[in-house]
Amino acid sequence: MNKFEKDPQEEEPFLQACIDYMKSSPTPFDVPGHKLGGIKTDLVYFAGENIFDSDFNAPIGLDNLYHPQGVIKKAEALAAQAFNADECLFSVNGSTGGIITLLCAVLDPKDKIILPRNVHKSAINGLIVSGAYPIFISPDLDEETGIANGVDVEEYVKAMDENPDVKALFVINPTYFGIVSDLKSIVKEAHKRGVVVICDEAHGAHFHFSKNEPCSAMDAGADLSILSIHKTGGSLTQSSMILGKGDLIDWHRVTRVFSMFSSTSPNHLLLASLDAARKFLYFQGEEYIDRSIRYAEEARKEISKIPGLSCIDDSFCSTPGRYGRDKSKLVINVSGLGKTGFEIYREIREKFNIQLELGEAKEVMALFGIGTLEKDKDILIKAFKELSKEYYQNNEEYIIPNFEYHYPKLLVRPREAFYAPYKVVKLEDAVGEICAESIMVYPPGIPVLIPGELISSSVIDILSFYEDDGGVLLSDSKDGYIKVVDKDKWYKAADLYSQD
Ligand SMILES: Cc1ncc(COP(=O)(O)O)c(C=O)c1O
Repeated sequence: MNKFEKDPQEEEPFLQACIDYMKSSPTPFDVPGHKLGGIKTDLVYFAGENIFDSDFNAPIGLDNLYHPQGVIKKAEALAAQAFNADECLFSVNGSTGGIITLLCAVLDPKDKIILPRNVHKSAINGLIVSGAYPIFISPDLDEETGIANGVDVEEYVKAMDENPDVKALFVINPTYFGIVSDLKSIVKEAHKRGVVVICDEAHGAHFHFSKNEPCSAMDAGADLSILSIHKTGGSLTQSSMILGKGDLIDWHRVTRVFSMFSSTSPNHLLLASLDAARKFLYFQGEEYIDRSIRYAEEARKEISKIPGLSCIDDSFCSTPGRYGRDKSKLVINVSGLGKTGFEIYREIREKFNIQLELGEAKEVMALFGIGTLEKDKDILIKAFKELSKEYYQNNEEYIIPNFEYHYPKLLVRPREAFYAPYKVVKLEDAVGEICAESIMVYPPGIPVLIPGELISSSVIDILSFYEDDGGVLLSDSKDGYIKVVDKDKWYKAADLYSQD
């Protein structure tokens, strides 16, 4: 490209088409029913006068998300190029929808996939919908913090060697807490065996744009990736992208399954926000991501000096399952204040109006992002100084009870257990039963139990611990109860299998 040529990445074809359409003041005889603001509900007090004018469905000229031929096709092609992918789909269903889509696009019922057990609930739901057999492998577990991290490459290699018929691998890049596995080596080992690599990059949308962050899925040569651009890339909540690369995948099937699970009325604001975020990341991403890392590191250094507090730093990445970390995430251990992370999470909001990403038993997590300002960092540091002044008395560290936790044994395919006859029993009566639902702590939404797993007494202890100590438990059943497979009624020919 010579200096007189315009970089195509300067364009925002979909966003521009939306602006042009709005400015043309059309007379709308199509959906949505508010008719570009013909009626305005009280939403305008929240989202501004323009919210209705800029909300339209599928007028001529704005292309079709499921058969893109015009501005959406162009916007997706620019995004594929910007993220170093061959293919891109804009999605309005978050990474949740993307993960279910990809599992169903790659796997036939009963195909095998290797996954770390600390996957997001959407991956479990993808197993239920696709009917695939999961081969779970254990992530690195930090005993001190209780945090589940990445996975040693050797665990993937062992699982592939033991299951030569496996179709795909699932890698979290990074985990909710920002830890990554050695993705390049995992991809190399998978591709040697013709195995497809699917990455959950819900929290890694910014990786490709900074040299100071871990390797992105596409840069590592993975086949498929799903990115919550809304989490770290600057688009509106719920908007995400599915990326694809190479010839191991059937992209036509990906697009077919994508349209099966997506609304036929995708929100144009969300799609336009993806077009704009791509341009921002391409031209300014590095500067802003590196700024967020700088602020996070400054906060980490300051907060680590405060009595009663410590932060995860590079020394945490000392095992093969903790290959690297997202430096824009700040995980703070608050147990030296004699408080749980759940308590500090709530208190820092009540007293300082600071909304953190998460509170855990011992930790809280602050996400620094491309929109974080220097003053925000200063407010955070000041709040932790005040909290320390109030609570630090050389307290005993908050100790998480020792549960002897092992990931539960999977006895039956998640889909089988989900559709099996069930009964609802009290948590304390469920030991020895097969779970028929997913139960998770939210956030981060990683299931403690999934359909098909054997319920042990230690897992019941963990659920009771979270319930008593302020975690939010999500499940189908009411508090204190759990849905289990009704074995008496269960069709005896159910395809029971053991992981051993
Ligand atoms: C690891 C992981 N994967 C997937 C998701 C789902 O992403 P989304 O909220 O975009 O649907 C989340 C959400 O927090 C997550 O933490």
